[in-house]
Amino acid sequence: MKPKMVIGNWKMNKSFEEADDLIIAIGEQIAGLKLETGVVLCPPFIYLELATDQAEEADFSTGAQNCSEYKNGAVTGEISAEMLAKLGVEFCIVGHSERRKFFCESNQTIAKKADLLLENQLVPVVCCGEVIDERKANRHFEVVEKQIKESLFHLSKEDFESVVIAYEPVWAIGTGETATPEQAEEMHAFIRQLIEKKYGTEIAYSTYILYGGSCNAQNALELFSQPNVDGGLIGGASLKANDFVAIIEAAETTVKEN
Ligand code: 13P
Repeated sequence: MKPKMVIGNWKMNKSFEEADDLIIAIGEQIAGLKLETGVVLCPPFIYLELATDQAEEADFSTGAQNCSEYKNGAVTGEISAEMLAKLGVEFCIVGHSERRKFFCESNQTIAKKADLLLENQLVPVVCCGEVIDERKANRHFEVVEKQIKESLFHLSKEDFESVVIAYEPVWAIGTGETATPEQAEEMHAFIRQLIEKKYGTEIAYSTYILYGGSCNAQNALELFSQPNVDGGLIGGASLKANDFVAIIEAAETTVKEN
């Protein structure tokens, strides 16, 4: 089993002081654990520098929650992939369901963002997932397939190798209702098959496919024990150092036991 990856998506939470404290607390708690698990903190833009400053010494990397679909110039309020790269940010979440819902992001927009991130050597963490009505109508595979194909399958093999995918069923985000380990595994295996058909077995195996949606310290071990679940994209539970580190420890356990 390859090492896991655990990414904390803080969304629009924390004051400056709280962000500083949380970054330091996570750094301290994971120091000395000799983690194999890749840990990424994604605070709001204005706290990214706090995280990149600490990341130099600590055992985590830094990610943004979004970037502009435009390269640079007169685009008021936006942050470019290049700016993130220059700050030392290594990852960037794109296509989160909250951005699809509140900011009307399409698969085509997400494709543009992924391209710009890759041009700037950042890892795009591309989110996919169905809403509850789509699952009830048994359309979840079709929906996720379309999201992945339209946002990522234009990439060359070389570029695709750098991409991380996060399956986040929208009905499980912030609701306390988690996908069962079987539901997660079934979708992750399906996504891996899609990748295999397009890019071959080696890339399909090496691509990280993370689960997100009410993943917490209690259910992480069972979710991460599924063969096709390579870690988690964590929302609410990434806002407390103890909970987040417990999830990281669950990720470590699953790899060491296999
Ligand atoms: P929760 O873990 O709060 O359900 O959020 C998941 C998520 O959206 C991570 O990107």
